[in-house]
Amino acid sequence: MHDGYAYCEIRLLFFYLKSLLRKIIFLRMTKNNEWWRGCVMYQVYPRSYCDANGDGIGDLRGIISKLDYIASLGVDAVWISPFFKSPMKDFGYDVSDYRDVDPIFGSIQDFLELLKEAHRLGLKILIDQVWSHTSDQHRWFKDSRQCRSNHMADWYIWADPQPDGTPPNNWMSYQVGPAWTWDGRRRQYYLHHYIPEQPALNLRNPNVRQEIKNTAAFWLDLGVDGFRVDALHTHIYDKDLRSNPARAGNNFNNSRDVPDSNPMSFQDRIYTVNTPENIVWVEEIREHINKWEGRCLLAEVGGDNTEKDAVDYCQTDKRMHMAYSYGLVKSDMSKKCLTKTIGKVEEIIDDGWMCWSIGNHDIKRVLNRVNPHYADKAALAKYLMALLLSLRGTPCIYQGEELGLPQAELAFEDLVNPFDISLYPDHMGSDGARTPMPWMKTAPNAGFSNTTHKTWLPIPPGHVALAADRQEKDEQSILNEYKRFIAWRKGQDILLTGAFEFVEADGDILAYMRSLDDKKMLCVFNTSDSPASWNYDVDGLEAMEEVNHNASYDGKGFELAPYGYGFFRLTK
Ligand code: GLC
Ligand code: CA
Repeated sequence: MHDGYAYCEIRLLFFYLKSLLRKIIFLRMTKNNEWWRGCVMYQVYPRSYCDANGDGIGDLRGIISKLDYIASLGVDAVWISPFFKSPMKDFGYDVSDYRDVDPIFGSIQDFLELLKEAHRLGLKILIDQVWSHTSDQHRWFKDSRQCRSNHMADWYIWADPQPDGTPPNNWMSYQVGPAWTWDGRRRQYYLHHYIPEQPALNLRNPNVRQEIKNTAAFWLDLGVDGFRVDALHTHIYDKDLRSNPARAGNNFNNSRDVPDSNPMSFQDRIYTVNTPENIVWVEEIREHINKWEGRCLLAEVGGDNTEKDAVDYCQTDKRMHMAYSYGLVKSDMSKKCLTKTIGKVEEIIDDGWMCWSIGNHDIKRVLNRVNPHYADKAALAKYLMALLLSLRGTPCIYQGEELGLPQAELAFEDLVNPFDISLYPDHMGSDGARTPMPWMKTAPNAGFSNTTHKTWLPIPPGHVALAADRQEKDEQSILNEYKRFIAWRKGQDILLTGAFEFVEADGDILAYMRSLDDKKMLCVFNTSDSPASWNYDVDGLEAMEEVNHNASYDGKGFELAPYGYGFFRLTK
């Protein structure tokens, strides 16, 4: 009897221990699988990162040579813009073979080496996947355009002209002008949301969907940690090709991804972007990606209301892991814009997760959007960094932001980007944000390339003074501030996953409270180039001096120098 009890108890204990162990393993796994939540990402634009073979264009071996640098920043993950086979009409976003590396960038072997080396350094690698369109030189499109009855006839969006020969509807392209181009062989128009060399794939076609999933599998099997899904908003169009209505009222807003100078912005793009079918497709992709452990999907979301749509795409664990919108990427970072953009997201985010960035390869660099003539660029750059890295979500730093690079001023003759050229002079500024990285102050081409010819875009003299090697030696440099801040942030759970709430503050001061369990941190920023003060009487505020810049609290209120910022732990 007695023995029986003991036996039962031991079994119970054993059972309890086993379930505890399972729980611990599960928790650790979830934690590990959710590495993307609150990590710091870094975007590499391969053409401009580092040129290893001296042809004036950056390449994969160049990136490999800089992985130590990337790891030294303290970032956790790297998103690499496209390096796949491409005629380069949109500099790699026009892919002609999804499973091969363009010789300009190297080979698959180079990529595998990059991946291995990155993983050795503890860096995750996300690669760009362009699934909304291919290059017109892709084998699929070459076949599809031959006639109306070939085996790939409906792999793209083909449509008959109207009786008068004009395009099927009023849809516009990002490059300015109609989204339709005529093809004499089929005597039909094909759709392209971007340039005519980027025909839109027909993602309603199950064969196309399957092929995209096979492509994803190819890279996941090679070991990539995730994808940045290009132009998710333009994946699936209205089946009936209905014309978009004219934009209702004068609702120009910062959440729109096209400038007002592009006639596309005259429409409410209800039939071309973020259609309801897109969500169904997203869930299908997610289900597919889930077969590989610990991978992550980050969506680029454009359109007319990018915050709302970005949040939609990352709701629940059935959709994207994260999405980024255009609100901040295009922002002037004024208090009004920050409050509106972040506020909109916070209101609806629920269990979704945003990826925040203040710049990328498509948009004028942030320093020139905020206060182009402000003299103390270093103070401005550090302030923008602190702001980005303390929001709720996953911050993504665009290469060169850590050096405080301003937008490169390029002459019209130097422009190469088709969108910049079409919209000149009111363009988005892609080329000026894509100039090569300055690595060494005194080396030819600032250490980016040893070519004796021209680099693919010029390196502005102003950037050379900001070269990485110089900043590494200067304790007070922007680069070292990034390293310090990122290292400090790693230890602040509140910033990694905590809740976010705005705190009403005076004048140009922006303040928010981050909180986790019973811990709270107040983040305070002077969004202007004049000194600012704010009376705020609260007990137990403790300044986190190690990261604060020109911000003080005397028990009754804050004093902040222009673009000063501070983080304060609430101890009561
Ligand atoms: C995305 C990319 C951009 C590209 C476009 C078309 O917006 O960021 O560079 O031109 O998609 O692929
Ligand atoms: Ca090269």
